[in-house]
Amino acid sequence: MKLTGNDAHVWSFKVSDFDEISTYLKLLSLDEQERVTRFKFEKNRKTYILARGLLRVLSGRYLNVSPENIRFKYNDYGKPDYNLETSIKFNVSHSGELIVLAFVKNRAVGIDVEKIKTDFDALKLAENFFSFKEIEMLNDVPKNDLHKAFYCCWTRKESFIKAKGIGLSFPLASFTVSLKDENAELLRTDWSPQEKNEWKLFSFGLQNDYVGAITVSTGIRSVLYFNLEAFLTKMS
Ligand code: COA
Ligand code: MG
Repeated sequence: MKLTGNDAHVWSFKVSDFDEISTYLKLLSLDEQERVTRFKFEKNRKTYILARGLLRVLSGRYLNVSPENIRFKYNDYGKPDYNLETSIKFNVSHSGELIVLAFVKNRAVGIDVEKIKTDFDALKLAENFFSFKEIEMLNDVPKNDLHKAFYCCWTRKESFIKAKGIGLSFPLASFTVSLKDENAELLRTDWSPQEKNEWKLFSFGLQNDYVGAITVSTGIRSVLYFNLEAFLTKMS
């Protein structure tokens, strides 16, 4: 399995597909193991152990390093990166039952996945987070498609801020992404007319009630998707 500069690899896993997680727990560093002890809920604990464990196993395969020897460093906003010389970058997201991991070469990457909920007022929430243009576009969406469109917008926005690694200190209303299912796109940013040309966005649906998005710096041609089956076969 080879990662080229043309593709991004996205791996997705379902937490409930893993019964035994002690092998993953053993791979974690001391600071990660310390974080494990701080989770109040078993579900969040399991998700964290798996996300970090799978990140380590896959990173080990891409980097040719033992999973437990991989060290991470963090930027000022908490974005993790490898603490070694490599052109490979990654980003992780989890929501509900799903964990997604993205890997790219020579580019920046951000990924987000969200479980779709429908028990809230999407237009009202959009007013707190989205740009004027996004709110305008959301108002034009038929009622039945509203929550799907909301999450398409949300995940695209979050994957963009995660690609930039800036976190939520950043004004979310200062840039606009497309909302429609097809054609994920950064439409404009308030701070630079060029920035929209510097990023490529892709949306993906993994299961019925989940939506995901990935943002990668321009030059990328396609996204290849892998699941547990590929994890257990192709790369073993
Ligand atoms: N940039 C990129 N990635 C980051 C990051 C940053 N600044 N900080 C952490 N991450 C990575 C970590 O690997 C983290 O996983 P870990 O905690 O298991 O190590 C992972 O991203 C978490 O991503 P996700 O599962 O999508 O979590 P989230 O949606 O709760 O948080 C952040 C995403 C990182 C942007 C966070 O700053 C946040 O608070 N988000 C709130 C959600 C929101 O309001 N989004 C607005 C969309 S319009
Ligand atoms: Mg998220």
